[in-house]
Amino acid sequence: MALVGCGGFIGSHLLKAILERTSWRVFGVDLDSYRIQEHLANDRFEFLCADLNERSVVERLAQFPVVVNLAAICTPSRYMAEAATVIRSNYDHPARLADACAKSGSWLIHFSTSEIYGKTAADSGLLDEDSSEITFGPVTASRWSYATAKLLTERYLMGLDGLRWTVVRPFNFVGPYMDFMPGVDGEGIPRVLANFSSALVRGDALKLVNGGAAKRSFTSVHDAVDFMFRLFETGAAAEGQAFNVGNPDNELTIAELASRMRVIFAKIKGVDESLVPQPIVVDGEEYYGKGYEDSLRRMPSVTKAEKILGFRATTPLDVVLEESLRWFVDHYQVVVNPMVAE
Ligand code: UGA
Repeated sequence: MALVGCGGFIGSHLLKAILERTSWRVFGVDLDSYRIQEHLANDRFEFLCADLNERSVVERLAQFPVVVNLAAICTPSRYMAEAATVIRSNYDHPARLADACAKSGSWLIHFSTSEIYGKTAADSGLLDEDSSEITFGPVTASRWSYATAKLLTERYLMGLDGLRWTVVRPFNFVGPYMDFMPGVDGEGIPRVLANFSSALVRGDALKLVNGGAAKRSFTSVHDAVDFMFRLFETGAAAEGQAFNVGNPDNELTIAELASRMRVIFAKIKGVDESLVPQPIVVDGEEYYGKGYEDSLRRMPSVTKAEKILGFRATTPLDVVLEESLRWFVDHYQVVVNPMVAE
């Protein structure tokens, strides 16, 4: 099995589970290995520090019977300022890998995104893999650079003669090792869970973009790993399909997320919630940059994964949030919190 992006947030959890639960050998490619240090000496794991820019790497990956591609730039704060880089990472590289897999006969499992459903409205219903209509903002709204590149990749995979493919569309996976803490091991604005966790650890106010009315359904990364095992076990019957991977039971607004995270953080720290700063509202374009727009609701239909794979995500929201926040607090404990007394 080959894993592209084995050192990323999802990739590192998948790699760990594969090495623990199976006897498979894994060839992993990534530019970063900090999340997978514990596996580098494992005999069944070969790590190559590279990306899909290198032709020889693509050729080698396509020698494996199953290739999972998790590599992507997927941080919304980069979609505006670095649109061309984002498009290269999310279209050019995967298309190159797909070409090689079509030639070699490998099964390519490609991670796309729930963001391909576009600029969804607040009252939009369940997002269905094969029938939902898709609308994006204007071409000048570069927020959609990522989503349009990902959508083009899906269309390319579906149209490529001879390719055995499956597409996975993650709906806001969260858990340990998600993204980074700005100024510590990354720059810019990470996705909401990491950004809220960073602010809580620092004693800063959580920032609600445009009031925090947008809704998301957060999914445990452990459920996502279980989904992947169901996919591997199912094999051929899952080929030629795109699957939403999400947890419709875990939907809430970002403002509600902020208040839940404040409560959980106070519990972890053993302090009164009143000591945790109140959230503040920020304007989306001022915060992220010109061209930022948002999906107001992202609610997955999950019946296809249930029917074909017998899979449904089960981890409740509070369990996911507490695990993620506890991990963040422990992992970044070197950063002193000036507002909340121990
Ligand atoms: C992102 C990526 O673009 C998707 O590719 C990816 O699949 C998806 O995350 C995901 O994790 O599955 P999005 O959900 O918009 O999409 O990413 P976040 O940055 O986590 O934002 C979620 C919501 O929180 C947005 O409404 C955003 O405006 C808001 N937000 C974010 C805040 O209110 N405050 C913050 O500090 C950060």
